Amino acid sequence: MNTTVHPATQTTDDSSVCPCRYIRKQAFIETVRRQKLKTIEEVRAATFINTSCGCCYETVQAILNELNSASEPGKD
Ligand code: FES
Repeated sequence: MNTTVHPATQTTDDSSVCPCRYIRKQAFIETVRRQKLKTIEEVRAATFINTSCGCCYETVQAILNELNSASEPGKD
């Protein structure tokens, strides 16, 4: 079990990740973890994030990268 608290999730920051879809950071992280989403395509299909103007792409991808790297074996 990975008990390391990753920087992407240790913050109390609950800023908006995707204003177009009214998706906030903590809810997004929770959904990605719960549904084990790994790619931008998967999160788009599951949450509709990044499916309007596209401005949030880099933020969404950065959060995904952090969560994916935190869940890799040997990263605890
Ligand atoms: S801010 Fe995410 S699609 Fe517009």
